Amino acid sequence: MAVESTLLIVKPDGVRRGLTGEVLRRVEAKGLRVGEMRVMQIDRPLADEHYAEHREKPFFGELVDFITSGPVVVARVEGEQAIGVLRALMGPTDPATAPPGTIRGDFGIVITENLVHGSDSPESAERELKLFFG
Ligand code: RTP
Ligand code: MG
Repeated sequence: MAVESTLLIVKPDGVRRGLTGEVLRRVEAKGLRVGEMRVMQIDRPLADEHYAEHREKPFFGELVDFITSGPVVVARVEGEQAIGVLRALMGPTDPATAPPGTIRGDFGIVITENLVHGSDSPESAERELKLFFG
């Protein structure tokens, strides 16, 4: 077991719908901790950089439009196996088929509006935390 840090983003749909508290409640109730957190607007250069791995994908434009469409909450989440545990709390990418009990499964239907982002590996976590928290 290893203590890890990971990047959580409550996406614009989650903030707009007033679900930030619900997301953080689940994260904390699971036993993870919020080490650092702020509300911010992601601009296009930051969105491009954050989602660089998806630049060539057909959905990239929609993804960047969406993540820049309103305020987000970004947090450094810490704890034992934080990267995988947060991804498990989030559920699979498509909220329409994500199992009930997960954040995406309980609160979403549309793939772009899937409420949360979580780093998908130790390398991604390091890169993304540097991008948002320096
Ligand atoms: P995220 O990076 O946001 O935590 O999501 P993820 O790892 O579960 O999924 P990823 O493959 O990294 O995709 C990034 C985001 O792109 C949107 N997406 N749209 N229209 C589509 O087919 C499609 N596929 C992915 C989703 O909003 C996903 O969260
Ligand atoms: Mg991803």
